Amino acid sequence: MPSAPKKKSRTKKTGRPACSVAEKDLKYFWHPCSQMKDYEIFPPLEIEKARGAYLYSPGGRNTIDAISSWWCKSLGHAHPRIAKAVKRQISKFEHVISANTCNSVLSELSERLASLMPGLDKLFYADNGSTAIEIAMKMSLQYHAQTGNSQKTKFASLSNGYHGETLLTLSAGDCGIYSSKFSPLLINVEKLSPIPYVSGIEDPLWKKIPDNQWLPVKEQLEKMRETLCAVLLEPIVQGAGGMKIYSQDFLRRISSWTKKNNVHLIADEIMTGFGRTGRFFACEHAAVTPDYLCMSKGLSAGWAPFAAVLCTRKIYEAFYDDYSTGKAFLHSNTFCGYAIGAAAALENLKIMEEEQIPAQVAARSCEIRKVLDEIRSETSALSKSRGIGFVAAAEIVNPKDGSSFEPSKRTGFNFYRQAVVNGALLRPLGDTVYLMPPLNCPPKIIDKLKAIALKSLKETLNL
Ligand SMILES: Cc1ncc(COP(=O)(O)O)c(C=O)c1O
Repeated sequence: MPSAPKKKSRTKKTGRPACSVAEKDLKYFWHPCSQMKDYEIFPPLEIEKARGAYLYSPGGRNTIDAISSWWCKSLGHAHPRIAKAVKRQISKFEHVISANTCNSVLSELSERLASLMPGLDKLFYADNGSTAIEIAMKMSLQYHAQTGNSQKTKFASLSNGYHGETLLTLSAGDCGIYSSKFSPLLINVEKLSPIPYVSGIEDPLWKKIPDNQWLPVKEQLEKMRETLCAVLLEPIVQGAGGMKIYSQDFLRRISSWTKKNNVHLIADEIMTGFGRTGRFFACEHAAVTPDYLCMSKGLSAGWAPFAAVLCTRKIYEAFYDDYSTGKAFLHSNTFCGYAIGAAAALENLKIMEEEQIPAQVAARSCEIRKVLDEIRSETSALSKSRGIGFVAAAEIVNPKDGSSFEPSKRTGFNFYRQAVVNGALLRPLGDTVYLMPPLNCPPKIIDKLKAIALKSLKETLNL
């Protein structure tokens, strides 16, 4: 197993042990999504520099960022064109209040984002994904109240979904590991199931699901029809819920049901948007236009906390009136329309378009999928391999009989430690291993990733 930090060196001046970066870090920094005690046996990886798909540590050691730093570094680290655009913006101004002011970078970005999906052409900006989802939920509630449907106050979402960490988004999500401790503070959001999961676009269910897989969900929706305000979902791929892919037909059916029943559809494209699934937006797989499309992460290519909600003009118009009517949407965050994020996003869009990134991802999808498939056939220690675009996932299982390991064994965590030692930052979700490298990751780095993942799995399971 990977070892604990090396012995401390001593400073010349005081003769006292020097405090390493990791030690100082752990003295003060409470890391996200971590049991801090784990860092005693495996300290955080110190990063000095990051370029492309690589993270560099002191001494020149490099590590492949195989999960694009929590799925946001879609074009890798330090992309020179985005760096230039950000510097250009900093030389003008870094941020100004975005109520009552305007600027060229935001207006150009808005124009471009409004042209991405016909039918969605009004933008509201935010500074993180969870807030974007909350904005869409609040807008939807206010919209229905202002259009004569104040009884529409309920939300539904997919079982096993994830939409963020604020209380409203934890309520909308269905990942108990993150939300159960806070249940006294959560609202009731109906969870729709079953979900017709698929292994990829080659799966027969991808194109069409049988009625018996749809009717229970339809029934759940019908029961709430009068009071339902909106349905929230991660289109096509459920990320934090275990990188599960579901049928485009299911998405299409939900969308058409919402349209027929004056219920909004909120598409959470925070992880799937900007080319990740081989389309610009995952909704495109089902030719679906939601009422709200929430984006973050890949929007600024992971350069800034930056998010946006794209919605229809019809929704916008329900808020547009004399001030005295009280119809305005009075949501305000200090960093709404953060100019540096906007500059990064604008350059990112230009690169995506010029280099046809979503099409490239679709064409190269099999490279990522192959990594896990080959490891599975070599070790028999992976099952349920699945993938779409530049996302691939599988479950670590006991090669002897294909069974799952006891969660208390922390097999995924042990694999993560081994992979870091071998040169890749792979951070499984429980025992679900997934690959989500930058969308422009060259094939030779993917080959290297495969070698590291294979070695790490063998070492973890003593194969
Ligand atoms: C699908 C989805 N929605 C919402 C969020 C929350 O975004 P943020 O972490 O920026 O609040 C995430 C983050 O991982 C996500 O994957």
